[in-house]
Amino acid sequence: MGFEEGGAVHSPSEEALMVEVFPEGFVWGVATSAFQIEGAHDVDGRGPSIWDTFAAQPGAIVDGSDARAACDHYHRYEQDIQIIRSLGVRAYRFSVSWPRILPAGRGAVNAAGLDFYDRLVDALLAAGIDPWLTLYHWDLPQALEDGGGWVSRSTVDAFVEFANVVSRRLNDRVTHWLTHNEPWCASVLGYAQGEHAPGKKSWPDALIAAHHILLSHGRAVPVLRSNVRGAQVGLAINTSPCEPASPSRADRDAARQFDGELNRWFLDPLYYGRYPQDVVEAHERAGRLTRGLPFVQPGDLEVISTPTDFLGINYYTRAVVRAEGIPEEENEPRTIPIPAPGGLTDMGWEVYPEGLTESLVRIHADYRPAALVITENGAAYANGPGADGCIDDARRSDYVRRHVEACRDALVAGVPLEGYFLWSLLDNFEWAFGTTKRFGIVWVDFATQERILKASAHVYRRIIRDGGIRQDKAA
Ligand code: FCB
Repeated sequence: MGFEEGGAVHSPSEEALMVEVFPEGFVWGVATSAFQIEGAHDVDGRGPSIWDTFAAQPGAIVDGSDARAACDHYHRYEQDIQIIRSLGVRAYRFSVSWPRILPAGRGAVNAAGLDFYDRLVDALLAAGIDPWLTLYHWDLPQALEDGGGWVSRSTVDAFVEFANVVSRRLNDRVTHWLTHNEPWCASVLGYAQGEHAPGKKSWPDALIAAHHILLSHGRAVPVLRSNVRGAQVGLAINTSPCEPASPSRADRDAARQFDGELNRWFLDPLYYGRYPQDVVEAHERAGRLTRGLPFVQPGDLEVISTPTDFLGINYYTRAVVRAEGIPEEENEPRTIPIPAPGGLTDMGWEVYPEGLTESLVRIHADYRPAALVITENGAAYANGPGADGCIDDARRSDYVRRHVEACRDALVAGVPLEGYFLWSLLDNFEWAFGTTKRFGIVWVDFATQERILKASAHVYRRIIRDGGIRQDKAA
């Protein structure tokens, strides 16, 4: 069976034991982001973004690569759309490059930049693919960073301006809008840990940046609703269940704190209009906040908690957290590597599909978003073409299958899960890892821009054709 090995083929007697779980209309998609695939960094009036600046710094990207060409999707989008279509995928999550639209971050609109997304959306619709548009997937215009970036409250206004410009142009064709991708990464990796652009290392600034990102989300929601009739608006968060490394009190406290920093710090304001007090105190103890949250102005939390239509979940792995043995003055729980029976991906991330079900069940129980959508899930594995030209990425196929099963388990548990977007369509520029980590179900040869479907692409096509993976009645 070659590529289709282990696919969802069942004998008639097995069929009788299977039940359908995925509802009609469940959205099967693939996801990408602008900076990671578009290339064409100086074409048609695009301005520089913080990621262009960051990638140019020696040592910032592990292999010294940059995304000036990336997958050249800017010029090859028609071919890429045909690939999506050939997979039977009917939804595509992509992001809009802010510096293509507003090269200086605000003010003058670059018509050629908007035209690109206009063509892209038209081509998607012509191919029968529903566009899911993310406004901010980390490529802040450098000009805004020069004015303080997300630490500056004026960036909130600039984001709303950007949301307005894009949504006025595409309002007749795009229904699904995500304001932000992974506010935790954009704020903590970018402003506290310095691993992502803009490469800053200040926790106090990161907490301000996180607040402004959330605020810009809340401010953009009514703008999108008023510009787009029938808009479905949400955002995507990165989430992991946080488990203690041992049953000790210290490790359990550490896991709770890490869950607070990663999950509750974002979900509590979005759904309850408040920051979690225990995490405020933990940040104070760690010296990241001096006294409370002076950057929160009256009314901000009401804005942030504006109701949305769906919550996007980006899930890759779980976090196992340890405090034991970590010097107390560090005041910081650590996530630690653990023996991983499910294996590790090339990111060193444990394969742990159960964590996806756990996250969905927990978020549904604690926050009751109107709907949930997996907006990213996937795995980095290096497999390239073999002697026969085929790419046998069996571990990725297995990863995808097991996580789709985890979605199924969440549906059985009553979670209103409405879609699954696989990360990623293409091998691409994986941020600080450059071109060293391949997440695509489609291989990209970065020298020639050749694309080759991997085995996992065929497996995903079969899953979609079968309407998901059904459940064993005995289970
Ligand atoms: C997520 C990002 C996405 C990609 C995957 C692997 O955190 O949203 O752009 O890098 O991780």
